[in-house]
Amino acid sequence: MTGHVVINDVGPRDGLQNQQNILEPTERVLLIEALINAGVKHIEAGAFVSPKAVPAMADSGQVFAALSDNAGLTCTALVPNMKGYELAGAAGVRSVAMVLYASDGMSRKNVNMDMEQVERITCDILARAREDGIRVSAYISVAFGCPFDGEVQPGKVHTISDKFLDAGVDEIVVADTIGAANPRQVKNLVEPMIARHGQERLGCHFHDTRAMGLANVYAAVEAGVTRFDASIGGLGGCPFAPGASGNVATEDVVMMLEQMGYTTGIDRVMLLKASHLAARLTGTAPGGRAKAWQERHWV
Ligand code: COA
Ligand code: ZN
Repeated sequence: MTGHVVINDVGPRDGLQNQQNILEPTERVLLIEALINAGVKHIEAGAFVSPKAVPAMADSGQVFAALSDNAGLTCTALVPNMKGYELAGAAGVRSVAMVLYASDGMSRKNVNMDMEQVERITCDILARAREDGIRVSAYISVAFGCPFDGEVQPGKVHTISDKFLDAGVDEIVVADTIGAANPRQVKNLVEPMIARHGQERLGCHFHDTRAMGLANVYAAVEAGVTRFDASIGGLGGCPFAPGASGNVATEDVVMMLEQMGYTTGIDRVMLLKASHLAARLTGTAPGGRAKAWQERHWV
């Protein structure tokens, strides 16, 4: 199978939210611009959340204000509630990400609400977003396993995704927040979703906590998934999920998919430059697993 695969770089949000070194909005903009220069068209650029809960995402409005209009570019902001949605709207955001949960444990830790409360808020925001013409991605966090409540049954994820795809979200993203998935589970989870709803509105988001990030991308892409989150330099982790490490690195995902014959529209050398910038700004971004090889062959 070949074809075009959409890469959404979540480094500037999912990645930076968990760094010890908190970046200034101007530095976050530099990282986003480096990704844009590499041809990345989908970027999670910030979050309108409580700055007490996630200090690294404070002043996301300044980040969005600094991004110039760019045809074909989708910069998304995470919003946890109506206040976040309204702040995002005031900052000119045209695409929001909402996080749903496959477990109550994670939901309470992350946003101090249970799964049903979050679902209600997501429905309210979706209704507003439809009126306002705002794009909505709905994530299903801890879709394979939760650090508090343990393993998650696929049926739970299917129920949530059916409900929100039927309600009209633009995209459901299955998120392996703590890197609990293995490739066979990924295949078994996504195949029925594609059979029911097609692949246009399905994305996958993998963390590389147990070194299975790329294998999980492989399983998903071969099952027909065409949209993936990844994080420049392998930045990431969730401050509310103990032990969660970075997302699968964008530079590794792009390398694997392009070598397999898929197109991403991303310039691998410019992407490596963005990865170096992520490392320089944070002091901690590990870089993709193929970093040494890529530096020898591409630079
Ligand atoms: N943006 C900015 N500030 C917000 C906000 C938002 N979207 N929502 C609430 N706040 C502020 C409130 O105004 C209040 O401020 P104050 O203390 O100065 O009065 C404070 O945050 C607490 O508000 P409250 O409604 O009581 O919420 P809470 O303390 O139960 O926290 C959330 C709930 C959702 C706001 C908070 O847990 C949060 O922002 N979580 C985000 C977590 C996240 O981003 N996780 C990563 C996703 S994977
Ligand atoms: Zn994540």
